[in-house]
Parts: sequence; structure tokens; C-alpha cells
Amino acid sequence: MEILELKGATKCFGGLTAVGDVNFTVPKGTITGLIGPNGAGKTTIFNLITGVYKVTRGNILFDGKDIANKEPYLIADVGITRTFQNIRLFKKLSVYENILTACHNNAKYNVLDAVLRLPQYKREEKQLKEQAENLMEIMGLKDRRDLVANNLPYGLQRRLEIARALALNPRLLLLDEPAAGMNPDETDQLMHLIFEIRKKFNLSVLIIDHHMDLVMGICEKIMVLNFGCKLAEGTPSEIQNNTKVIEAYLGVEG
Ligand SMILES: Nc1ncnc2c1ncn2[C@@H]1O[C@H](COP(=O)(O)OP(=O)(O)O)[C@@H](O)[C@H]1O
Ligand SMILES: [Mg+2]
Repeated sequence: MEILELKGATKCFGGLTAVGDVNFTVPKGTITGLIGPNGAGKTTIFNLITGVYKVTRGNILFDGKDIANKEPYLIADVGITRTFQNIRLFKKLSVYENILTACHNNAKYNVLDAVLRLPQYKREEKQLKEQAENLMEIMGLKDRRDLVANNLPYGLQRRLEIARALALNPRLLLLDEPAAGMNPDETDQLMHLIFEIRKKFNLSVLIIDHHMDLVMGICEKIMVLNFGCKLAEGTPSEIQNNTKVIEAYLGVEG
């Protein structure tokens, strides 16, 4: 059973086909990898899935329902959230505030509840604060809670971004180069963390990354993209032994 399916997904920018007729699935509950050289169209695929870009052609099914061209906030609502290749945080807010503001997207109380501080508001505020504390704990950010995001070490900024994506209670989490700029130790820790959150939150994960040890180590399935087209799809060992993939990507530094 797949949680996500791309059917002939195509995105053209003027004369450039950034993503061309891609068919691809993410099986439910898996960590699936999306790899390929720079400019292959990986981030564009994330932008199509999350509604940032409209598809030129094709369908994107989430749990069997077409979500192509829906507004980004609706896609987050159905259960797909993401992190960005270039980190996006509230740089002047603390770790805790960054997570709590993301948790507030789940608030159901209305303005009157909030202004009058009615029980519904108090109850929910308490729950949202607990959720923020919990996410800080899981992502190993608790001892930096009052640090302004901008002053966090780079690796922890990436973790904070994942915490914010988790705050929206996704079923499918999209990670765009979460280990970019990390040293091997940080990459290794991140790999374990992704494993852990997948289990804890019952997630499916689609991950773009160039660290082959990370991708090969945690993905059950991998798709290789080259010049906007699917070059190969398979298990890590199938991908590592695929001559086309070695020639186009693995043979050279990505
Ligand atoms: N908004 C855009 N307008 C024009 N071209 C774009 C846009 N976004 C991406 N592209 C182009 O699409 C191709 C794929 O880019 P991208 O998806 O970012 O690649 P990757 O993430 O695999 O490195 C590149 O040639 C890039 O320049
Ligand atoms: Mg990219």
C-alpha cells in the first residue's frame, strides 16, 4: 500500500522540463530516498507534492486522493509537511517559540475563547505547550530551549526545522537535504533520529540527501532522478549495483 504516488508528474519552466513524466511511489511506513545530481529536479518534486508549484501535467495521489495543485496549507492539512533545503526558521525567536508557533497551527479555539481565556482555550494551550516540550525532548533541543534560532549550531537548526514540521502532525514527512553541512557524527545522529521519529509518529518519510551512507543506511527504497527523469528505482543494494546510476551519479561526487 502506498501513501504517495506520482503519476506522470511533469513540471516545465518555460522551455525547461525540470521534472518529466515521473512515476514513483512511497510505500506506507517506509523511509524512501530521492537522490540524483544537483539540478536533477528533486526539490521541484517536493514543491509539486506540497503545492508550492502547480504541475504542468500528471497526478499526485496521497492516500489515493489527487492532491496536485491544491494550496500548500491544504496539503499540510491532509498530512504532508516538509523541511527546506535552505533552512526556514524564525531566526529571532527561541527554540521553544519556534516549535510552539508551529504547534499553534493545530489550535481549534476561536478568538473569543482566546480573548476571554475560556476553558477551551486554556485546555488547548496546555496541550500545545506539552506538544512543544515533547518535540524539544525528542529532537534533543531541550537544553537550548531559550537560545535564539539564529545562534544555534547549524546541525541543530536543521533539527529544529524537523521539529517544526513534526508539530503539524504529518503522516508523510518530506526532508530536503536534512544533513547538508553536517559532519559525519551529526549525520549519523540524524540518521538515528529519523529512524526514531518514523516509529514514534508512525510516519512515512521521503528524504533527499547526498550523503550516501545516510541514504543507503536508512532507506528501504530509493529513486534516482537525472535530468528530471527517473533513472532507477529499487532497494539500496539494487541502486548501488545499477550501472546507469553509477555512471550518472554514484561514480562522481554528487
Ligand atoms: N522556479 C523555477 N524557475 C525556473 N527554473 C527552476 C525553478 N525551480 C527549479 N528550476 C530549475 O529546475 C531544475 C531542477 O531544480 P531542482 O529541483 O532545484 O534540482 P535539485 O533539487 O535536484 O538540485 C534546475 O534546472 C532548476 O534551475
Ligand atoms: Mg534541491
